[in-house]
Amino acid sequence: MDTKPISVLVIDGDTASRNYLTVVLQKSGYTVLTASLGREGLISAWKDQPDIIILDPVLPDLPGPELVNRLRQDRRTSKVPCVALSSQQDSQDMNALLSAGCNEYMAKSSQALPRLLELIPRLLKGESTAPKKHGILIAFLSAKGGTGTSSLCANIAMCLGSEKIETRVAVMDLVLPIGSIASIVGYHDRLNLVTAAMQDPAQTTAAFFKDNLPRVPNWYFHLLAGSPDPESANQLAVNRLDGILNSIMESHDYILVDMGRALSRISLPIIQRADVVVLIVGTDLSTAILTQTVWEYLKNQGIDPRRLYPLQNRAVGLEGLSKTELEQMTGLQIRFTMPYMSGNFTIANNRHEPVIAKFPNDSSAFTLKQAAIQIAELGQRSHG
Ligand SMILES: Nc1ncnc2c1ncn2[C@@H]1O[C@H](COP(=O)(O)OP(=O)(O)OP(=O)(O)O)[C@@H](O)[C@H]1O
Ligand SMILES: [Mg+2]
Repeated sequence: MDTKPISVLVIDGDTASRNYLTVVLQKSGYTVLTASLGREGLISAWKDQPDIIILDPVLPDLPGPELVNRLRQDRRTSKVPCVALSSQQDSQDMNALLSAGCNEYMAKSSQALPRLLELIPRLLKGESTAPKKHGILIAFLSAKGGTGTSSLCANIAMCLGSEKIETRVAVMDLVLPIGSIASIVGYHDRLNLVTAAMQDPAQTTAAFFKDNLPRVPNWYFHLLAGSPDPESANQLAVNRLDGILNSIMESHDYILVDMGRALSRISLPIIQRADVVVLIVGTDLSTAILTQTVWEYLKNQGIDPRRLYPLQNRAVGLEGLSKTELEQMTGLQIRFTMPYMSGNFTIANNRHEPVIAKFPNDSSAFTLKQAAIQIAELGQRSHG
């Protein structure tokens, strides 16, 4: 039996990060080789023939994609799994690296290391040397509470799920400390974000979510309910979220995430990865001001305006700012206006029924379907 330890080459220009990775990988039993420059990394990769290569694509001497390209073009390293662990989170960067032949791209964060350790054995088994198929990720958020984010997330997911029977739609409720999608759809079982995160990472695979993510009667999607109460939210193993999301993305065609109004370290990486960011905007003055601030922030975090889907929701009534006023105040181009549905939305929610099932002939059902189609189209375009 071959007992040669598995060797990992870490190419990272940042000393602290390189040393940290080395320690973590050595603790997991790997032999670690290091390089602080791209060229040095190439030489080591060709000479030492590591089993896997981890690189920070921002290097002093070579752009990451070029490095990967050269690894792929050489017989000795054409098949060695490569993981980009980037300190910059940039979707253009990510695409360049993946097209150059990098197997995985991750942003450096507290969640990256557990995911990396989970990933290495899979990459070595050759499980994901071909780029993995991922569903379309759609994030729902708002700058202010009570603007209809959760109701729209659940109802738009319902529209997507009822369009074609074979489309697999998942909703993930990430609102902390209490999720509300479960109470909208009438879900009471035990599996939720917190209990899923308590399971062994080896357990929560794509196959697990494919088989076990519950479908609530009347709702045509699978739900990973949120935290049921603040006490549970305190127990949430935050570093497991990324792995769970990845598994659900692998097992579903559309993944809609209710992020509420949280712009936290948890939600930001997900928003950055999303194919569509549905930003729900209310019609009152304070929402407009907050929305402008949130959008400024998101832009600074590298969110591509083309992926943004600002949706004006008249949740409280007919009064309030018009579309034009809202656009002027926020600098956003509103893509869709959801009319005030008087009591319909609340009645449907209270009965745990989708609007399109409860009021199929109402204009609100038609409007929701239209928004769902537009969001899906934008998702397909961004997904490439
Ligand atoms: N277009 C609309 N017309 C009428 N009522 C609406 C509309 N949109 C949402 N509502 C109602 O507004 C209320 C708040 O909705 P919801 O809970 O979805 O908002 P939220 O932004 O998720 O709130 P929270 O900040 O509590 O998470 C619900 O009672 C919902 O039925
Ligand atoms: Mg909500």
